[in-house]
Amino acid sequence: MSQNSSKPHFAIAIDGPAASGKSTLARELAKRLGLVMVNSGAMYRAVTWKALQEKIDPSDSAAVVAMLSQIRIECGQSGMSSTCTIDGIDPGDELRSEVINANVSAISAIPEVRERLVNLQRSYLERTSIVMEGRDIGSVVFPDTPFKIYVDADEEVRAARRSLAGEVDSVSKRDAADSERVTAPLVVANGATILDTSHHSIESAVGAAIEILTEQGLESSQPSPTSK
Ligand code: DC
Repeated sequence: MSQNSSKPHFAIAIDGPAASGKSTLARELAKRLGLVMVNSGAMYRAVTWKALQEKIDPSDSAAVVAMLSQIRIECGQSGMSSTCTIDGIDPGDELRSEVINANVSAISAIPEVRERLVNLQRSYLERTSIVMEGRDIGSVVFPDTPFKIYVDADEEVRAARRSLAGEVDSVSKRDAADSERVTAPLVVANGATILDTSHHSIESAVGAAIEILTEQGLESSQPSPTSK
């Protein structure tokens, strides 16, 4: 955990499969706790966007790695949410397109991509306390944080959530790829508590998450998010 006198900032890790409700939960928790919400999936999506722009085959890892050395990736914050630009461009809504959904798992399985993005993800803690959502936040990015939730939901519920959001996304295919990859696969991290959101409203899921975090030691007297 990063809470000591030299580095008091802390991270709440929210992991889980696609459409499990982790983004909504992370956003609401961040709002409630006054923390910055960091969407790590958007970073993998942004690199995927760039590869497709450059007409690089996402399964050609050598070409993707060569591209990585040529691009500037900047992750910051706007208000209380994370931002990610590639060579100064924020791809915006394009990050949620069908073609990105279909290719992001291949890009995120490349170890060099992960290494670059994990460094950027960790650097948030130099500036502020965060709620970060993704697949490997509790297992790889911040393994020492005591605050870890693994969000899950029934597969039908997850698929329905995606189509309700108007997205074409084969969640089961993406989950299989994300869970079976060699580097930093989706797992329930050591010390994480599982929260199944299938039958929760947003409000009740947030309440359950706050209970879990309190059990994990989160106190209302946590240091102020931007204090050093
Ligand atoms: O959370 P999301 O659906 O926007 O994530 C998109 C993809 O990015 C996901 O299928 C796998 C990858 N990802 C990852 O490998 N590690 C993370 N920490 C976050 C996302």
